[in-house]
Amino acid sequence: MSVVLEGTGLVKRFGPAVALGGVGLAVHTGEAVAIMGPSGSGKSTLLHCLAGIMKPDAGEVHLLGLRIDAMGERQRSALRRTRFGFVFQFGQLLPELPAEENVALPLMLGGVSRADAVRQAREWFGPLGLGGMEGRRPGELSGGQAQRVAIARALVTRPAVIFADEPTGALDQSTGHDTMRLLVEATKHNGASLVVVTHDHQVARWCDRVVEVRDGQIIPGRHGARPPAGHGAHPSAGHGAHPSAGHGAHPSAGHGAHPSSGHDPRHPVPGQGVTREPATQILPGVSG
Ligand SMILES: Nc1ncnc2c1ncn2[C@@H]1O[C@H](COP(=O)(O)OP(=O)(O)O)[C@@H](O)[C@H]1O
Ligand SMILES: [Mg+2]
Repeated sequence: MSVVLEGTGLVKRFGPAVALGGVGLAVHTGEAVAIMGPSGSGKSTLLHCLAGIMKPDAGEVHLLGLRIDAMGERQRSALRRTRFGFVFQFGQLLPELPAEENVALPLMLGGVSRADAVRQAREWFGPLGLGGMEGRRPGELSGGQAQRVAIARALVTRPAVIFADEPTGALDQSTGHDTMRLLVEATKHNGASLVVVTHDHQVARWCDRVVEVRDGQIIPGRHGARPPAGHGAHPSAGHGAHPSAGHGAHPSAGHGAHPSSGHDPRHPVPGQGVTREPATQILPGVSG
C-alpha cells in the first residue's frame, strides 16, 4: 500500500510551549487513521501541519511525493481545496445557504458552474442518508445531519485525504458513533484516506490504526508505524479498544461496484463505484 501523505520530524512551538516535539506519521492510500490523546497533547497541531493549514517549525510534509510544507500560502490553499477535505467539530456550514449549496461550494470555488456544482452536490444526499434535506438551511438540520452535510462537502471534490478534528465532539454518543462510522465508511468507499482526531474509543473499531499522541509525541509501541497489512490485518492489534475482528464492523466493505442505473455516465455517482445502497446500509437507525 502506498503512502499518500507523510509528515517527518514535525516540530511546532507556540512561544515556549512545544506543541509537536518531532513527530512522524505516514498515511497510506485508503487508510483510516485515528489520532487520540488528551486535550492539549498536540493532536490538532499535528493535523494542521499535515493538512498544510499550519507550517511546522521543522520537519517536512509530503503529499504524493510533493513537499507541501515549504509551499507558500497561496499554493497550500489551492492544494487544500483540491486534494483535501475537512470536517470540523462544528460543521462550519454557511447558515444562510441551503445544504445543497453548502456541499456545492468547494466545487464552485474550484470553478465548476453553480448548476453543475449543485447537481453534483445533490448526489451525495441519498448515500449519506440525507435524502430530502437538500433545501434545508443548517439551522433546520439536527447536529448529526449537519455533520453529514459537512462530510458530503468534504467528499464532493473527491480529495485524496479527509481531515476531521473531533467531528463528533458536539454530538450525543449514539449519533456520534453513527456519524463517525459513516465518515470512515464514506471515506473508504471513495478511496480517500482519513485522518481523524477523536476522543471516541469506539472509533478504533472502524479505523485501520490508532495513533496515540502525548505531550507532542507519538507514543512508541502503540501506534502503527508499519503500513496496514491489507484488510483483515490490523497493525494496531493489541490496542485495547481495537479488536482484531474489527473488520466485521464493515458490513458494506466490498460493495464497491454497484452500477447506478439511469445515472448520467459523465457524472458518476459520488465515489468511484460507490453506490447509494451500501452507504445507506451503514446508517442503521440513524436518527441524527
Ligand atoms: N495558536 C496557538 N497559540 C498558542 N498555543 C497553542 C496554539 N495552538 C495550540 N497551542 C498549544 O499547543 C499545545 C497543543 O495544542 P493542540 O494541538 O490544540 O492540542 P489538542 O488538539 O491535542 O487538544 C497546547 O499546549 C496548546 O495550548
Ligand atoms: Mg484539538
